[in-house]
Amino acid sequence: PVVGKPEPHESAAGHVTGAALYTDDIAISRADTLTAWPVQAPHAHALVKALRTEPALDVPGVVRVLTAADVPGVNDSGVRGDEPLFPTEVMYYGHAVCWVLGETQEAARLGAEAVEVDYQPLPSLITVPEAIEAGSYQGAHRITRRADADAALAAAPRVFSGVTEFSGQEHFYLETMASLAYYDEGGQLYIQAGTQHPSETQEIVAHVLGLSNNEVTVQCLRMGGGFGGKEMQPHGLAAIAAIGTKLTGRPVRLRLNRTQDMTMTGKRHGFYVTWQAGFDNDGKILALKATLTADGGWSLDLSEPVLARALCHLDNAYFIPALEADGRVAKTNKTSQTAFRGFGGPQGVFVIEDILGRCAPALGIDPADLRRRNFYTAGQSTPYGQPVRHPERMHDIWSQLLEDSGFAARSAQIEAFNASNPNLKRGLAMTPIKFGISFNVAAFNQAGALVLVYKDGSVLINHGGAEMGQGLHTKMLQVAATALGVERSAVRLAPTRTDKVPNTSATAASTGADLNGGAVKNACDQIQERMAVVAGGMLGVNPSDVRFSQGRVTGLGVFGKELTFAEVAQAAYMQRVQLSASGYYRTEGLHWDPEAWFGSPFKYFAYGAAATEVEVDGFTGAYRTRRVDIVHDVGDSLSPMIDIGQIEGGFVQGAGWLTLEDLRWDTSDGEGRGRLLTQAAGTYKLPSFSEMPEEFNVTLFDRAHEDGVIYGSKAVGEPPLMLAFSVREALRQAVGAFGPGGYEIELASPATPEAVFWALTEAKQLA
Ligand code: MTE
Ligand code: MOS
Repeated sequence: PVVGKPEPHESAAGHVTGAALYTDDIAISRADTLTAWPVQAPHAHALVKALRTEPALDVPGVVRVLTAADVPGVNDSGVRGDEPLFPTEVMYYGHAVCWVLGETQEAARLGAEAVEVDYQPLPSLITVPEAIEAGSYQGAHRITRRADADAALAAAPRVFSGVTEFSGQEHFYLETMASLAYYDEGGQLYIQAGTQHPSETQEIVAHVLGLSNNEVTVQCLRMGGGFGGKEMQPHGLAAIAAIGTKLTGRPVRLRLNRTQDMTMTGKRHGFYVTWQAGFDNDGKILALKATLTADGGWSLDLSEPVLARALCHLDNAYFIPALEADGRVAKTNKTSQTAFRGFGGPQGVFVIEDILGRCAPALGIDPADLRRRNFYTAGQSTPYGQPVRHPERMHDIWSQLLEDSGFAARSAQIEAFNASNPNLKRGLAMTPIKFGISFNVAAFNQAGALVLVYKDGSVLINHGGAEMGQGLHTKMLQVAATALGVERSAVRLAPTRTDKVPNTSATAASTGADLNGGAVKNACDQIQERMAVVAGGMLGVNPSDVRFSQGRVTGLGVFGKELTFAEVAQAAYMQRVQLSASGYYRTEGLHWDPEAWFGSPFKYFAYGAAATEVEVDGFTGAYRTRRVDIVHDVGDSLSPMIDIGQIEGGFVQGAGWLTLEDLRWDTSDGEGRGRLLTQAAGTYKLPSFSEMPEEFNVTLFDRAHEDGVIYGSKAVGEPPLMLAFSVREALRQAVGAFGPGGYEIELASPATPEAVFWALTEAKQLA
């Protein structure tokens, strides 16, 4: 079968040669295309008192200025109705108040500079503590509870408490936000967009333009990365381009440059968390109480579901018998924070990993051992009531990683190294991940596909998922080839479009392959069932005895006679048998009551573990990642090379968030208050070659078949990001080695060299 073979990404050659087209490549290939440019407000919070657009029209090449008066439908691009597309109240520094259309990018830019806006500045809230103090919240207040956490804390022999604060993360997809709108021949509005959620882009554009959904078509050819950032936020930008097309009749392109993208679009949510944790003398967690405040920015966007996933991942891989966690979304004058790989999961996991790593030395227990002692065991459920199936997998992965990484021997070597090196210290840490797969909202767990078999036996597939580099299309090609019994080369994939598959969900929550794979296979199965009847007739066997494999069609018990897939397709056509099908899939067995905060929202859990060794320089806090070992569970891999790429990429992106990437806003009371200070790669440090682990070993966990998922596979897109907690914990251990041991070791986040330096300076002072 084609599934399970290590196939390169279907566009790999195009990616590296530049032949692969992205949205703006399509846009600039059209001669009559106009460019849209934003007028960004220089205030964190202000009223727009007056907007004078006429001066822009005097700039040569400026065609129009788009304002609220131009909106044919509803002036709002948020799914919650809280995001005016043309605002009268500026909600964050860089908020676009209007857009200029120009014949060229330069004309549009100069036009935007010429627009005159009068602002009346208002007081602003930039940090989460400021928002908490002001009582500035938005959306639902969620509480998750199991047993009596207060009583359990009161009875616990060891109780710790603390504040855990961590910041967000810029997506820094290589391709910034881009859309192109135009009318096709029928006068229908057609949008090319980098969007993880073409159906929702379609809906929002229709809503803003006062059209019905069948009058708007959205296509996403591919994205140069999405990472969650293109789940919601492309919609309003596509709507701007669409309004431009509506008013001028011409194609309109909108592509943010890097600084615009960084200052206008949402990021991962930073959190401010206070907690208390109780342990027994063996290090078993008895109780956890926590208050989580997510920095939502100016509008809700996906903040509520992100918070929900954070609350559902506070346990990570650990059984917490008594839990009370309280979650809220702060409303601040910043970009509207949004989905980012892990979708709140990393924020929940952060809290418990921080607690365990920090408390282990005070408990006098090796951190890796402390973690293992608290793993789920058979028969236990999560705090929100989902039985944890296959908890033994976590234990087995851990054992394998201990062995593969040579953990015990290396820990001893590191101890000896640290004892003889006063100014260099190493740390080796292991952290686990258990990540729930499915959208928390049950309705989103459905997908559709369209499969066409042509008379010559070639196959064209369409599905609702979007490709952002993660290899979804590659996997879908493999699924279709396997399901139909043809060679991989016989299948081609057509771009994701809302007029082929309707009402799709976002390609998100790592569910792309599970959901769309189910739908593609369903369509292929329908066609194959019909072709089996035709082939059965040709071979003289029962349809149930027909076998399709690698383009050949055979009958059980029939010798010396074999058909090609193409021959059967041709015969089916002649017999007037339908050779196309639309497929559908929905995940069974999910239920979730968000009011009671109870149910089984996830189809299954993905498991993994990582062991990371770092070396820290005591004079500067600079560090190197010497070695990383990962054992990760992807079920029966659909496409091992793609999966390993996802694990490596996810891990590195997580390590960036936890140790390098440092978003800073101006929190002063000056003119620039609320301005994002880290607006480009020059000030925002991303992982690069020099930060890669010197040795990086990724192993897919064996014999990991998962029942009820496409070909026994498991989702892989997000969970590996959270394996990067091992880097942070290794840094913590190296920092601890500068001190006397036996106390709580705090480490600020992100654990940049500077943060590591301050932490080890404190450790040295205690020694
Ligand atoms: N990998 C690449 N190369 N580029 C991306 O943008 N996004 C991640 C992950 N891996 C992403 C990626 C995120 S946030 C998700 S939810 C999943 O891919 C989505 O794709 P899937 O459901 O097909 O795994
Ligand atoms: Mo991924 S954050 O669910 O797009």
